[in-house]
Amino acid sequence: MNTPTQHAGFAYDSLADDEYEFIRKLIYQHSRINLGENKKLLVMARLPNRVRANNLQSYKDYCALLASSKGPEELIHLIDAIATNHTYFFREKVHFETLETVFLPKIIESNEMTPIRAWCAGCSTGEESYSLAITLNQTLKQIPWQMDCSDISTFALEKARKGYFNNQAVAKMDPKIQEDYLSKQNKDNETIFEITHELKKHMSFHKLNLLERPWPFHHKFNIIFCRNVMIYFDKETKQELIEYLYDQLAPGGYLFIGLVESLLGIKHKFKFVQPSVFQKT
Ligand SMILES: C[S@@+](CC[C@H](N)C(=O)[O-])C[C@H]1O[C@@H](n2cnc3c(N)ncnc32)[C@H](O)[C@@H]1O
Repeated sequence: MNTPTQHAGFAYDSLADDEYEFIRKLIYQHSRINLGENKKLLVMARLPNRVRANNLQSYKDYCALLASSKGPEELIHLIDAIATNHTYFFREKVHFETLETVFLPKIIESNEMTPIRAWCAGCSTGEESYSLAITLNQTLKQIPWQMDCSDISTFALEKARKGYFNNQAVAKMDPKIQEDYLSKQNKDNETIFEITHELKKHMSFHKLNLLERPWPFHHKFNIIFCRNVMIYFDKETKQELIEYLYDQLAPGGYLFIGLVESLLGIKHKFKFVQPSVFQKT
């Protein structure tokens, strides 16, 4: 019988320091996700699935696979496994409330460009994108709007693009919003809520590594959400990303970062509006 630290024929707590270092550097080079030296436990929790998926017996074999010609393909799955995709509808509610009551009215008042454009950068499985889309749709009414959504994770982005959510994901949503923007279906004996075409038709999804430019946009944005993404990055990477995001905003546009994040120690040209909200003046 397997001991608690053994699974499918290999000891999953046996990741050697040099193997961890190899994986850590590879992930950083490709995604700039900075695991630091103390994230070995996290990697050890997420790696066994990848070892098993490749029918391998050890982390040593897995590192050899990553170093082989098949490495780039596996790296996509590895990053999917490592990136934390945690998200939920209307997370950090204050952003959606102030958008509706303060920022969108200001954008409407001063904006010459239509459609109004938003970008949800690091959108994970879509809950944030659709929360933002609902807010735009409710507030802008007849004013045209478009939204781009992106993530580095293939798995998360695929889920976001489909726009299917289970009971649990939508449970805390306002019933009126559920009624207006979700269609209830039965799939394989499970109740599924699908985001309506009315909302999806304004939205495009892109697989995008935020640290790889050029980005595929030919327009500037009035609103950029880049929330709870920079938590992965070191100061140098954050600095680079904040400069790129500044360039990508239209004058007067707003950048929203996560409530637990800050731009402390980062050089930038933004005007501070309120904690976690910044404006390009
Ligand atoms: C914790 S989730 C946050 C999701 C959402 N923004 C929210 O606040 O609920 C972080 C997301 O950032 C994505 N991410 C991490 N590094 C990235 C990179 N270099 N480029 C693009 N997306 C990245 C991850 O795949 C993950 O889906």
